[in-house]
Amino acid sequence: MKVIAMAARKGGCGKTTLTTHLAVAGVQNGKRVAIIDLDPQSTAAEWSDGRGDDPPDVISTQPTRLGKVLAGMGDGYDLVLIDTPPTTGEADRLAIEAANLVLIPTRIQTSDIAAVLRSVERAAGQEKPTFVVFNDESAARRKSVAEETRRVLGTKGIEVAPQIIHSRVVYGESQDVSRTALETDPTSTAAVEIRSLYEWVVQQLNGKATKPQKRKTGA
Ligand SMILES: Nc1ncnc2c1ncn2[C@@H]1O[C@H](COP(=O)(O)OP(=O)(O)OP(=O)(O)O)[C@@H](O)[C@H]1O
Ligand SMILES: [Mg+2]
Repeated sequence: MKVIAMAARKGGCGKTTLTTHLAVAGVQNGKRVAIIDLDPQSTAAEWSDGRGDDPPDVISTQPTRLGKVLAGMGDGYDLVLIDTPPTTGEADRLAIEAANLVLIPTRIQTSDIAAVLRSVERAAGQEKPTFVVFNDESAARRKSVAEETRRVLGTKGIEVAPQIIHSRVVYGESQDVSRTALETDPTSTAAVEIRSLYEWVVQQLNGKATKPQKRKTGA
């Protein structure tokens, strides 16, 4: 069982959106997938309520119960995604502790990047493979902005997933009906980007992301 923590201390950066979409990408890839929702806002759990019995399973719990919930899953799942709240409580620390891989979604904006640095700091302290995911990026913006931000983060020892997730209305629209873009519009650019991100994530989980991230000192 592989565990991914979606950890960012910034509200509204796309944690739940990427959690549900990567989870459904896993389901469509034949994997047994669960989401653990540590957010008291219960966004992922409410999304699941509208899905009836359709996978993934979503378990809403308190951060302090995370270890027990994971232990209780046994070998029942191939992939577990932990969605966290944006607050600075224990949820992200415990999620990162339990994870094989940490993903930190962010918009490419200076204020958001500052929050990214704090989230990466926490994950790096726990020596977990950690990647920033650029999300909600305007398709109209010059590509060089993302690449320059990627380069600057790289100088601080922070790696960014190769697949950028662009801003598309289908994320919100599909969420509103308890689905994902992969289900409501499987041929959309959003679906293509999510499948590409998912495939890269699986590669990281299957070997490439075996070493803890090394951050440059003084970054
Ligand atoms: N790539 C995207 N394109 C368009 N809208 C997006 C994208 N990613 C997220 N959104 C929208 O932004 C809003 C916030 O996203 P989401 O709920 O996933 O963030 P979050 O980090 O989980 O927020 P919170 O910290 O409150 O839990 C939602 O309305 C969602 O539909
Ligand atoms: Mg959320």
